[in-house]
Amino acid sequence: MAFRLGDRGLWIGTSGSGKTVAMALSLDRLYGQRQMVVLNSKDDPAFARWRGLRVRKLTELRKAEWPRDPLVVWTPVRDEVRSPAHMDAFCSWLWNRKHTIVAIDELRMLAPSAIPLPGFADLIERSRGTRDLTVAMGTQRPSFIPHSAYTEATVIYLFRLASKEDRRNVAAFTHESLNEPVRHRHGFWEYRAGDMHATYWPDVRDLLDAEEAPIRTQQAAATRAPAMVSTGG
Ligand SMILES: Nc1ncnc2c1ncn2[C@@H]1O[C@H](COP(=O)(O)OP(=O)(O)OP(=O)(O)O)[C@@H](O)[C@H]1O
Ligand SMILES: [Mg+2]
Repeated sequence: MAFRLGDRGLWIGTSGSGKTVAMALSLDRLYGQRQMVVLNSKDDPAFARWRGLRVRKLTELRKAEWPRDPLVVWTPVRDEVRSPAHMDAFCSWLWNRKHTIVAIDELRMLAPSAIPLPGFADLIERSRGTRDLTVAMGTQRPSFIPHSAYTEATVIYLFRLASKEDRRNVAAFTHESLNEPVRHRHGFWEYRAGDMHATYWPDVRDLLDAEEAPIRTQQAAATRAPAMVSTGG
């Protein structure tokens, strides 16, 4: 099941495995449902063409107004991108704000070690249900990140990983299928917390298309109907 409102998603995979592209395409489908704030710490091309309010400094996020600005992309200035204080203030801002979709392309920026900063702990550990926060997080490494990034994730997307041991570790708290290597360049395993199974997807578009199928069928039915009427008449 594709990423949806209320989820806390974790995209894990080695550099170049396709996390950011998959995250961006998944988020695209939620556009307009809540204000979306992207922490574009790596200034990734996947977000370059996204149209919205673009800010460089944390304090400028205050300018973001809903529903005027459905999308806000924060590409932090150098001083802020490596500043834990700024990153923690960002988390606290989101926590107090509620009703937001937040995308954190590189989790390391918000959680530089396994011990989370207080704002991050609020955002991830206390946000379940009541705050209407949807959180998308990407990480290259499955270790040395706060444990809560896993335990609180509602969905995990596991892409290529260089280390078998890392894969085993992710499989250990998700599903044994995730031990199976990814068979496509940008393929991944999808696991939803609590499920007894995991699903393999060769490409993120396969996952997104799979969900659109019923709608397409309805559209196909709707466009077919007039033709049938005219043939019959
Ligand atoms: N599903 C896909 N189909 C085609 N090309 C893809 C797909 N996913 C990613 N790519 C391409 O592969 C490259 C790496 O993708 P991406 O930036 O998403 O990787 P990443 O996992 O986020 O890497 P990093 O950890 O370095 O940020 C990009 O050039 C991107 O365009
Ligand atoms: Mg990336």
